Amino acid sequence: MTYNFDKIIDRQNTNAFSIEGFRGYLFGEYENLEFPMSDNDLIKMWVADMEFETAPEIIDAIKRRVDHGIFGYTLASGESYNNAIVNWIEKRHNFCYNPEHIVNSKGVIPALFYLVKQLCKNGEKAMIMTPSYAFFKHAADANNIELVYTKLVSKNGQFSLDFEDIHAKIVDEKLTTLIFCNPHNPTGRLWTTEELKKLGELCFQNGVTIISDEIHCDLVRKDAVFTPFQKLFPESDQIITCISASKTFNLAGMLMANMIIPNEELRNQWLVDHLPIENPLSLAAYQAAYTEGGPWLDALTDYLDSNFKVVDDFIKTRLPKAEFRISESTYLAWIDIGAYFEETNIDDLTLFFAQKAGILLEGGKMFVDNSDGYIRLNLACPTSRVLEGLERIAKVLN
Ligand SMILES: Cc1ncc(COP(=O)(O)O)c(C=O)c1O
Repeated sequence: MTYNFDKIIDRQNTNAFSIEGFRGYLFGEYENLEFPMSDNDLIKMWVADMEFETAPEIIDAIKRRVDHGIFGYTLASGESYNNAIVNWIEKRHNFCYNPEHIVNSKGVIPALFYLVKQLCKNGEKAMIMTPSYAFFKHAADANNIELVYTKLVSKNGQFSLDFEDIHAKIVDEKLTTLIFCNPHNPTGRLWTTEELKKLGELCFQNGVTIISDEIHCDLVRKDAVFTPFQKLFPESDQIITCISASKTFNLAGMLMANMIIPNEELRNQWLVDHLPIENPLSLAAYQAAYTEGGPWLDALTDYLDSNFKVVDDFIKTRLPKAEFRISESTYLAWIDIGAYFEETNIDDLTLFFAQKAGILLEGGKMFVDNSDGYIRLNLACPTSRVLEGLERIAKVLN
């Protein structure tokens, strides 16, 4: 089957967060903002969902479930659903989870809020790597948990872990939890087995449990290899893995994710605190995604790879002062445009580009720390949109 990722889809009147939620989420602190064009004409490359229709196989599965007509309480973690997840990960990432370790959540975000609270009690701390997906910080802040930051180091646009810094900080006895992102949002780094092994060993030697947020794990460049953290430490029960079909198949509105919790005590506590009941349409969609979504994902991968190439070519020719490297994963481009600004002028790049260029993107400020001068562009949209977005950026920067 061929899939059309070039199609422009009007999302108006669907309560799309991307078009109706941006004022509150991106600019909540400002009042009465004006933009150079109507909201409808702003190019949206901010929130991490896609402008593509999900796989037709998934739409058909939802329709079949709708036709059944009964939408009563529906069990989440049935055997066939858990096996679908396990088989998907085994096929795509070459590791077999124990299906009995899988639990359900309404999303990775609510799971993070719950897990950090369980893992950091009595003044214990959690570590994150910056730049960071902001909800890692929100989850800690909401539970009054102190965060320790370790900065990723960039060399010519390639990010790496600062093991010396991690080592110095992880020995703190109060530090019990690492909230880790693999693939990494926003940089798109896909951590290597060497990096993961070294990090895992450091954590376990120091009694630190890892929450490994692997929500972007299926969105990798064609020849890149994603390694589940648990694969390197199959016997450990100190890694909690967060996955979902939501990013991979543009199903975020279905509000469903899965946690893989090998530790029996924590898993039992989870089961006490969460009803194993799901939205039947979400379940139908995710089950179809994990069993029939492969060909669509392969086609999407080609399309995203091509969009990254478009961005790379554009930047080389039209924005030569920017630093950019095609990332190994995600559909997010992380671009250092600091060279185009005076240091004092890069405080709110989100606002700058919305007002000056008519493009909604996420500026560095939205990624906690260590991100001044960067912008994050969501490339999961038709290439024509990507090009229009780039043109608007180039126009104000040049
Ligand atoms: C790293 C990461 N974790 C979690 C989420 C959100 O997860 P969910 O929609 O399942 O709550 C996102 C969304 O952008 C993300 O990038």
